Amino acid sequence: MQTNFLVIGSGIAGLTYALKVAEACPDKKITILTKTQSDETNTKYAQGGIAGVMDKEQDSFEKHIEDTLIAGDGLCNEKIVEIVVKEGVDRINELISWGAKFDKEPDGDYKLGKEGGHSEFRILHHKDITGKEMERALLEAIKKAKNIELISHCFVVDIITQHHLGYLVTKSTPDIECYGVYVLNLSNGKVEKILADVCLLATGGNGQVYRTTTNPAIATGDGVAMVYRAKGRIENMEFIQFHPTALYEPGVRGQSFLITEAVRGDGAILRNANGEAFMEKYDSRKDLAPRDIVARAIDNEMKVNGTEFVYLDCRHMDQQKFLEHFPNIHAKCLSIGVDVSKDLIPVSPAAHYSCGGVKTNEWAQTSINNLYAAGECASTGLHGANRLASNSLLEAMVFAHRAFKHSVEAIKANTSKNDAIKIPDWNAAGTTAPSEMILITQSLKELKLAMSDYVGIVRNNKRLARANRRLDLLHEETEQLYEKTELSPQLCQLRNMITVAYLIVKGAELRKESRGLHYNTDYLQQNIILQNTIL
Ligand code: FAD
Ligand code: SIN
Repeated sequence: MQTNFLVIGSGIAGLTYALKVAEACPDKKITILTKTQSDETNTKYAQGGIAGVMDKEQDSFEKHIEDTLIAGDGLCNEKIVEIVVKEGVDRINELISWGAKFDKEPDGDYKLGKEGGHSEFRILHHKDITGKEMERALLEAIKKAKNIELISHCFVVDIITQHHLGYLVTKSTPDIECYGVYVLNLSNGKVEKILADVCLLATGGNGQVYRTTTNPAIATGDGVAMVYRAKGRIENMEFIQFHPTALYEPGVRGQSFLITEAVRGDGAILRNANGEAFMEKYDSRKDLAPRDIVARAIDNEMKVNGTEFVYLDCRHMDQQKFLEHFPNIHAKCLSIGVDVSKDLIPVSPAAHYSCGGVKTNEWAQTSINNLYAAGECASTGLHGANRLASNSLLEAMVFAHRAFKHSVEAIKANTSKNDAIKIPDWNAAGTTAPSEMILITQSLKELKLAMSDYVGIVRNNKRLARANRRLDLLHEETEQLYEKTELSPQLCQLRNMITVAYLIVKGAELRKESRGLHYNTDYLQQNIILQNTIL
């Protein structure tokens, strides 16, 4: 297949980009690939909302910038922060024009929520299912665009570069080109090639690398792993954000249900096993301190008290307002026998967001020509060492827009090099059907366990070294399997997750300090390294 604009991922970043390109270039073909159902994305599960300076009397760009920089703990790129905060408002208004609905006050103003690290109420939301509403609006708009084809159940395996033409490509190769991708078509099990003038990587996060995560099963870091294999630049992977309050449900593995930080924004209080409100011991901002601080405080309380969870107390809150703002959370809690008006909600931290990723510049360009990246898979410089809550949906839209602007100009100048280059078909010679899937599922369990036990909220050098050793073995075994086995999404995802885990550990080992989300007890004093870890 040949297309003009190839979009990998159907979350907020991919869909925003596709819509914009489709409108600006009606004579061009846009193809969106997504590995499962089209709406199965991290985006769909976003709860709290999207941050933006909508009320310019009470709030200001300067305050939002300042909050983002404080949360980022010295590692944000200030120019990028300014771009996102200032351009974000136009992107939110575009989203509204495409049909996304946000909650309003009786007077017609938007209801604005608050989350950890925000000095003002500035978060637009649709009850507690903001992401679902955004995904709905975007997918409906996509359906109306005549030049967009959205292909679901299509697993992108690798980015095609000069390497596939037989050239040696290394990290120092100056002009690595992206010609398109190899995809595993899940309807026929075949690996096919799709060539494109421009590719946008919008493959989302990697929470599934950990045992407990708020992320759905699709979040396996495929985009980052592909770029790393293609010798593109990756940075800051050690900054994995753990959300402080995922619902604690014993026995639930895979995806944990999130209790949005907006619940604390509306007044909920964290309590330990003894019923004590503990956050004031850790930070003057108490329950609304930035996420890294709250997650660490909870981790400590759990360790001190020997429990697997702490509690979120909503009993004192206006219950009618709670039901209006958080109907989904209310219903979920009731379904497990927790009545938020009378009972405490058991919560514990869970892997939630990847602040690092594919290194991009201010126009969303990666280090590989013709390859852009936006959304959670990209590292734009906005989040630094810790993302401010509700800044990621905003970032995804801002950089989808910037990728659109830049790539549409670039394609005009492009004289379709792909026509002249003979890209080989996928070579599956020597591979056979997998004999037992247990080899994959068992390795996945081992991977998640190693990452959760050794590379979690609190780290040290010994734990990181142990994780490295476990990963080495898993890598070796999985590469052997990959060489000999017909491709399946499970095998490709395992391989990608091992790569991503390796990058997280490598970034963590390179960072010889504690900063933001990376907390290493061997370096509690030395705050001297103030740069990104490039991998
Ligand atoms: P996603 O929405 O995750 O989409 C990724 C897409 O890539 C999917 O379509 C997937 O199928 C596709 N894909 C991946 N790999 C492949 C492959 N190999 N082949 C083909 N397709 C592939 N952020 C906020 O700002 N505010 C919030 O309130 C908020 N709440 C959140 C709540 C939860 C529970 C979670 C998990 C996250 C939340 N976040 C929130 C973070 C935010 O939702 C995500 O960072 C954002 O939605 C990511 O969007 P994206 O477009 O980059 O990727
Ligand atoms: C939440 O609603 O607490 C998640 C918000 C975010 O991850 O930005």
